[in-house]
Formats: sequence, structure tokens, C-alpha cells
Amino acid sequence: MSSKPSVVIFGGLNTCSRALAALLVPLEGEPLVSHLRIVDKYSVNPPTTYLGADFPNVLQKPNVEYRQANLQIASVVASCFDQPDGQEPYTYVFDLTGEIQWDRTEQIQINTTFNIARLLGLEATKRKIKAYVRLMHPFYECKERAKADDPKAVKADGVLGVWWHETARMLASIEHLNLVILRTALIYGPYVNYGIVISFLAVAATYGYAKEPMKGLWGPGKHATHTVHVEDVAGALFACAEWVSKVGREQALALAGENIACLGDKKKLKEFQSTVPLLTDPDKTVRAPSYNIEDDSSSTMTSLGDLFTTVFDTTFEYYNVLVNQMAKFKLEDMVEDINESHVTRWTEMITQSTPPVLNSPYTAYMDLYALKKHVITFPSHKLKEVVGYQLRRPTITKELVQEIVDKARAEGNWPNCPPQQS
Ligand SMILES: *[C@@H]1O[C@H](CO)[C@@H](O)[C@H](O)[C@H]1NC(C)=O
Repeated sequence: MSSKPSVVIFGGLNTCSRALAALLVPLEGEPLVSHLRIVDKYSVNPPTTYLGADFPNVLQKPNVEYRQANLQIASVVASCFDQPDGQEPYTYVFDLTGEIQWDRTEQIQINTTFNIARLLGLEATKRKIKAYVRLMHPFYECKERAKADDPKAVKADGVLGVWWHETARMLASIEHLNLVILRTALIYGPYVNYGIVISFLAVAATYGYAKEPMKGLWGPGKHATHTVHVEDVAGALFACAEWVSKVGREQALALAGENIACLGDKKKLKEFQSTVPLLTDPDKTVRAPSYNIEDDSSSTMTSLGDLFTTVFDTTFEYYNVLVNQMAKFKLEDMVEDINESHVTRWTEMITQSTPPVLNSPYTAYMDLYALKKHVITFPSHKLKEVVGYQLRRPTITKELVQEIVDKARAEGNWPNCPPQQS
């Protein structure tokens, strides 16, 4: 047997699986795995989703395979667990599947988040996979002062959040699954084109272009907006897999088990029990080995605003109390107004860019979800103490933010133009 694990990454081509693949099979240096398969619904050749500059090169490496597949079909899922001829059976599975768009219907959330993970979890159990690590995005509202690793301290954010959370509960209830749940703070990094951090950064760029102070909603205050670099998400995923594959399920539960209670509307969830197989009884609390990953920056809305605007040579301040009050009660009605100048300026920047920018996957449009107040804190002390994980990017810095812009510019996806003439 090879001493290196053989790995499948499911989903997440639009989130973190490209960074994870680059960690497992680096462009330079020794791979950490004997074989890597990545499975998602997208085509990579030609690409039907944004891939960033590095990932196509990772796919060229020996023993890396990409498979386009519909993971809503059980037989397709099963076939993805069959290793290619000449390879060892798969040992680690990274589950990065799940819908990340907040505005999809509940049935879509169930089909693409809950049901896919159910098929993956059941198949992984059948195959006696040694490590099954599930990535959980911060679709939660954390309490500013509470410990975020206390599940009572968080609320699931909307329909999306409820089904992501129910997915974790369902996986936790599959017997013999060598599961670890990894919850992250807000993810940023090169080629990460989804989520709140990157849209905040693109908006900051428009204020730099206009040579105006950037205006934030919600006013100063603690407003924890904790971040994590995508390379640390990848690093933590792998560290969790190594850990659980060594200690096994029972010991993992003893060392890192946490209660996961239902956070949704129990009455409503009960109505789904007849149609959604393996939906956990809302009255039942399950346990799963669980970790959080975030950096040590303890970022707030203000510190991120200050940092991002520095990159574009401007400053950050808040709207007045009146605007903040309006936003609190009528944000839906303000979305288009808030976006008008951002989008107009971003479009100007794109049209004036040398070299030209075509079909950028980046945008300065902030939808209702991005504009909402989010309090996100997922302290990683347990991951550091129990697993021994060391952060690669312990703080978010100007250099790391600049790197995002530089890499997006280098691939022709971020406008390169001087500030507006006043
Ligand atoms: C959800 O999945 C079921 C079963 O595959 C299918 O019949 C249904 O059309 C799907 N619904 C949506 C909204 O995708």
C-alpha cells in the first residue's frame, strides 16, 4: 500500500476545491496524495465556471483527474468512489458540495445541499472511507460575545443556512462515517470570486477609482467579520482528514465531539420528514467531531474597510445614523440605490482598463445577502490545540489583499485603470 492517501474532492469548484487540489498536488514539489479525483457538475474543458489561472495546471499533473458528474444520482455517486485502474481505493473524501446561492428555492437547497451530501455520506460509509471532511460555510449569524463553538450561540442564516445545518446533522447521524465537520469564517484569497469579502473588495476599488471615502452600512461597533485565507481552509481540511484517519470515529467524537441541535423551525422541518430521507428528528440533538477555522486577525467591518480602502488609496467611513436605521428596516428597498454608483463605476473601470477586461467573474454588485449585517466568528483554538494546526496566513494583511487584485489583474479579470479625473 502507498503511504499517501488517495483522495476524492466532491463539489466546491466554485468555492475551495481548487485551492485544496493545489495543496494536495502542488504545482511545484511533492504531492501529498497518491491520486486525486475532483468531481463537480461543471465542465472544465471548456470551463463552465471560473477556474482561476492555477487550477488548469493542477489538472495537468500526473494522477489528477477531473470528472464532471451529476451527484444527485446515487449510481453516479457510487461510480465516483471506484478508483481508476492501478490506483489504491480512495481513503479520504472531502465534501465541499452544497448550494451557496441564498436566493434559490427550498427544494433546490434540499436537492443540492442535503441530498447530495446524504448520497456521499452513505457511499463513503459503505466504502469504509477513513476520513470524510465536510466543509461548512458561515451561513450562520453568530452572537458577538458568545463562544461560537457553542452551537447554541449561532442561528442558521435563512433557508440556505437551515439546510446546510441540517446537512451537518444528517451526516452526524450516519453510523460509522469517519466524519469531521469543519466550519469556516469568511473566506478570501486569490481566485476566490464568491462571498462577501471579494464583493466588499471590488466595491472598495470603485471608491478608490472615484477618489472618495468608501461608505459602509451598520455603523462602527464590534461587528465581528472574521476571515480566513483559502489556503488555510485547504490546510485545515487536510489536517482534519489526517487526524480522523488516525484516531477513528469513536476517539474523534471523544476528543472533538460537539452537540448539533436543530436551528430551524421545528414544525416546518417535521413536515419534510416524510419526503427527505435521513432528515434528523428536529427534537434530537446529534454529535459530530467539529472544528472551526479562522485567522487570528479578529477582523471587524471597520478593520476590513480600513484595510481594503488602503489598497486602493482611499479611506473608509460609515453612512449616517439615518441611513443605517433605514437599512435596518428597509434594506430590500435600498439594494438598487446602493449598487447604482458602484456598478456604474466598476463598468467604467472595466471599459477603461488596459489591457481590456472581458467577462470578469468579479463584480461590484452587492446583493441583499452581501449587504446584510453578518456577525461571523468561528474561533479556531480547538483545531490548533487538538489537531495541532498552524495557520499559514495568521493575519489578513495589505500584501495578501493586494495579491488577490494582482493575480486577478494578471489573468485579465480585474480592471487596470487610473483613478477618475476630477
Ligand atoms: C429535486 O429532486 C427530485 C428528485 O430527483 C426531482 O424530482 C425534483 O424535480 C428536484 N427539484 C428541483 C427543484 O430541482
